[in-house]
Amino acid sequence: MNEQVLQDTARRLVSGDKGLLAMDESNPTCNKRFANLGIPQTAEARRAWRELIVTTPRLGECISGAILYDETIRQQKKDGTPFVKVLADAGIIPGIKVDAGAKDMAGHSGEKITEGLDGLRDRLAEYVQMGARFAKWRAVIAVGDGIPSQACIDANAHALPRYAALCQEAGLVPIVEPEVLMDGAHTLERCGEATEQVLRTVFYQLYVQGVVLEEMILKPNMVLAGLSSPRQALVDEVADATVGCLLRAVSAAVAGIAFLSGGQTAELASARLNAMNVRFKSRLPWALAFSFARAIQQLALENWQGKEVNVPAAQRALYHRARCNRAARRGEYSAAMESE
Ligand code: 13P
Repeated sequence: MNEQVLQDTARRLVSGDKGLLAMDESNPTCNKRFANLGIPQTAEARRAWRELIVTTPRLGECISGAILYDETIRQQKKDGTPFVKVLADAGIIPGIKVDAGAKDMAGHSGEKITEGLDGLRDRLAEYVQMGARFAKWRAVIAVGDGIPSQACIDANAHALPRYAALCQEAGLVPIVEPEVLMDGAHTLERCGEATEQVLRTVFYQLYVQGVVLEEMILKPNMVLAGLSSPRQALVDEVADATVGCLLRAVSAAVAGIAFLSGGQTAELASARLNAMNVRFKSRLPWALAFSFARAIQQLALENWQGKEVNVPAAQRALYHRARCNRAARRGEYSAAMESE
């Protein structure tokens, strides 16, 4: 019974041409984004920003699920309606970020290990009570001189299935997110090697730990050159490298793939997802969807600036980006959409 529900939820999250909206920034990350734009870093400002997002008209046309943060899943609209109810009424499945963040890894300078397994079973039970139907855990892998180390890959690849197994036990679809970071001057090829190594290790551990692949979604990075690399690949090169890597390393049984945006511009994230679907959609075992945070939210945040009067413009910007990414899932995104 639980298994059928989990498979149905996983499939719904990536069905048709919709994707996920990650709005699960921790308070420090959200505050950092606010500070960059001179927006007050208060609980009320964060609440108002989240209300703006979840009440965006027609959001449910493009977004299948929204990933919340612990503070956010407990918050409400000004009129007292819980955000979880607002989302569910819009046909958007509520999800929750459950990791406790990536912390410095002892003895491994420049590398991180994600924490949050202790007490996770109890926290998951509470989130299910609150209406969450899926969860997310993010591991981060840095690329640089001599890294990623095998130790960092192994430690993170071991934590992800432990989290995923607990989710499936609790009745939540796990989103498994091993993110190879864009920071650095590395080449696209180096990112591809690291991503493939990470994914192969993660999928071996998912198998060892008995995670049901049909009841999970993979949230990977795209294969890209580092942000400060002088040679940035063409859109089609990114599409080919990314899909090639996934075909080699990801089991065909997973319910779907939903990319993170990872610091790409919003337009490039849409264009690259579009190219993958144009070139490969008909021959892939999984849907290629999106689970973007910055690439959907950033333009809207810049429009909002923390001011009530800017809410409609910010919501239009948010809807625009969601719509561009829906088009990218169909392989119908074009730069012309940006001026509509
Ligand atoms: P970005 O799309 O901004 O990379 O965020 C996705 C996410 O959920 C990170 O955990």
